[in-house]
Amino acid sequence: MEKRDELYRGKAKSVYTTDDADRLVLLFRNDTSAFDGKKVEQLDRKGMVNNKFNAFIMQKLEEAGVPTQFDALLSDNECLVKKLKMIPVECVVRNFAAGSLVRRLGLEEGLELKPSTFELFLKDDALGDPFINESHVQAFGWATPEQLARMKELSLKVNQVLSQLFDAAGLLLVDFKLEFGVFHGDIVLGDEFSPDGCRLWDKETRKKMDKDRFRQGLGDVIESYEEVAKRIGVVL
Ligand code: TMP
Ligand code: ASP
Repeated sequence: MEKRDELYRGKAKSVYTTDDADRLVLLFRNDTSAFDGKKVEQLDRKGMVNNKFNAFIMQKLEEAGVPTQFDALLSDNECLVKKLKMIPVECVVRNFAAGSLVRRLGLEEGLELKPSTFELFLKDDALGDPFINESHVQAFGWATPEQLARMKELSLKVNQVLSQLFDAAGLLLVDFKLEFGVFHGDIVLGDEFSPDGCRLWDKETRKKMDKDRFRQGLGDVIESYEEVAKRIGVVL
């Protein structure tokens, strides 16, 4: 496999074409952004940590029957993935209230949600990733009803698998965001799963171990990502 041209530069990752029309290379950079790209900093080791974290999680999800775009780790900061046609809708599952849900509904952070909630957001930084519902997805043709049903089914499966995995490491999976795409007609999990796109709290102390440390200026951002990685068994 040969890495070719930069196809797309996101806030934290760059995407490259390869000599295989069905495969891309994802490069995880040290750039860390929040608030739809309004706060950006470089954090040492972040690209490496998130690349290896993502590879570990995607492999666990594949083993549990969730189709993912992940193929192989290529280097500290790069992995090989299937080229998906991305659906511009972010799927968020929540087990405890935090972040925008707390702001929207005026809740106390940490309230347990039973059953877990499933929400949709439009992936559009300029609009601030607005909250949307199923009818918007249909009206604007972002996904078919069948595709959306599959995205929801896979999101809840991911929640089941990863809640258990993090629980065994003394961590609460508070919430997370997933992005899906289409590969040869099937819905496949794309993008990444790392502490950048989820909330993880220590079960005993409720200490925040995810990107909220960056958003809220709490410090020790990458040290916390590394601690989570160590607890679940990611080799860095
Ligand atoms: P929220 O509380 O800001 O809506 O975010 C819910 C979860 O989804 C949280 O773990 C952060 C993640 N998320 C992203 O990673 N990127 C996004 O653009 C959005 C809207 C959420
Ligand atoms: N990932 C988004 C951004 O970089 C949202 C966030 O994580 O706050 O702005």
